[in-house]
Amino acid sequence: MTRGEAGPGQIREAAVIGLGTMGAGIAEVLARGGCTVVAIEANHDFLARGLALLHASLDRAIARGRLTHDGKAEIVARVRVADTIAAGAAGADLAVEAVPESMDLKRDIFAQLDQACRPDAILATNTSSLSITAIAAGTQRPGRVVGLHFFNPAPAMKLVEVISTVLTAPGTAERLDALIRDLGKTPVNAGDRAGFVVNPLLVPYLNEAARLLETGHASREDIDKAATAGNGLPMGPLALLDLVGLDVAVSVLEILQAEFGGSRNQPAPLLRRLVEAGLTGRKGGRGFYEYGPGQAPAASPGANPPPLAGPATVTLIENGAPALTADLGRALTKAGVDVVPGPAATADGGLILIAAEPARRVLDAALASGRPADAVGLHLTGPPGAAPALAEVIVTHLTAPAAAAAATAAAGRLGLAPVTCQDRPGFLAAALLYPQLNDAARMAQEGYATPADIDTAMMLGAGYPRGPLQMIDLIGAAEVLGVLTAMHAASGDPALAPAPLLAEHAAAGTPFRA
Ligand code: 3HC
Repeated sequence: MTRGEAGPGQIREAAVIGLGTMGAGIAEVLARGGCTVVAIEANHDFLARGLALLHASLDRAIARGRLTHDGKAEIVARVRVADTIAAGAAGADLAVEAVPESMDLKRDIFAQLDQACRPDAILATNTSSLSITAIAAGTQRPGRVVGLHFFNPAPAMKLVEVISTVLTAPGTAERLDALIRDLGKTPVNAGDRAGFVVNPLLVPYLNEAARLLETGHASREDIDKAATAGNGLPMGPLALLDLVGLDVAVSVLEILQAEFGGSRNQPAPLLRRLVEAGLTGRKGGRGFYEYGPGQAPAASPGANPPPLAGPATVTLIENGAPALTADLGRALTKAGVDVVPGPAATADGGLILIAAEPARRVLDAALASGRPADAVGLHLTGPPGAAPALAEVIVTHLTAPAAAAAATAAAGRLGLAPVTCQDRPGFLAAALLYPQLNDAARMAQEGYATPADIDTAMMLGAGYPRGPLQMIDLIGAAEVLGVLTAMHAASGDPALAPAPLLAEHAAAGTPFRA
């Protein structure tokens, strides 16, 4: 199938400028959808690398039985290469620029595209967060300059953000919406605000994960496990940073920081250091993880260690949450652990487990037990609306290493993925997720995107099983508000102040999504 029969005004030929990870993926998506694609890359090494990425992705589809060898040959035949914009872009109905995030570089490319392309051609940028308005204003056709923001890996992620500016001519975004649907993807329309919809929600969360690692809150594997097993996300944030590229993440954060300020947009020093060291993630072979030639992490972040035997008897202490205490007691008993209700039996030796609640400090209950060195918090959690899949082991600064190890072993007996973290409100899974849910509530409050569009964007752009506002509805706005309020109070960070709209839904008991 080609788009050769397409009627006037439709997109038959597309030029893709820059064949890095995103450009190669976009070229594949367009060629798969039947467009003739001119892949333009001035640097011959980058061109060879980009074509290798295209072939590897198509071969992966063949290996999975999703594409035939003939199908691949047809797709590849639709792609031709050029080494200058002047030579390659003259016949294009659409040009998509996917070069590194430098405004000077993009302005230069758009000036060349403006010269080379027909006056009716649409010029699009795949920028993650630079001002599309500024790029458009520098051309002779500002009405036909838009953002087309694909997500990595472009062949897999179903979302494309279509960004209009105040200069965009009527009908332009609609033409691209139709193209995106023809390509089998879903467009979400947004205005030209830094990061659009997905990046301001996703990238500060990834940044926070780097900060939690850097500050010793939890280990690399445990942070990623908390996101996958605990929050139900397809990848851990550190593995996702490696996929996105640490350099890309830092440049998105810098632009978000310039536009919105706030600590969540301030790149974690560790992220900057890794970029300075050239450890940019998968594309460079190493970021938070190391990658072999097949691009698989050398160490699987999801693997659970073999369960240890664990203590036969524990003392279980409540910490202001009777229901959580009862659930934890039942789970331990079912796993064959003798549970002695505290605090009466805490006099001599043995592990003290505190049924931890993410809005409360474990330390207070540990001190009250009289034996804080033997006391460890345990909190079972899982994806919103689903059964527990993660056991958070919370250590205070007074917990003895032997007690932490015994608690991890006890958690392992529950058949859940155990993770260890410091005693801070939110513990690990909620500490990663709830600030992002709060950011989503704030985005809805500001009217920048509807709750439905925010949810769709995160599901299709970042592989979330459900959107952040749906997650708030499942967890309960009051619960999210309570934990966030505790995180805000403990950190003093204004970026964690609960969004007024979240507080309103908590007070009224109303859902974000009808
Ligand atoms: N290239 C091409 N296709 C790929 C791919 C790759 N590198 N990785 C996976 N795929 C495709 C597979 O071919 C498969 O397609 P199929 O169902 O048609 O066969 C599909 O994706 C699922 O792949 P797998 O079953 O191998 O792998 P998983 O189930 O583990 O899913 C994933 C892989 C799709 C990457 C999933 O983990 C995911 O959704 N992760 C989140 C990715 C994300 O958040 N991306 C957005 C980053 S932000 C961004 O790009 C914006 C920028 O501006 C910063």
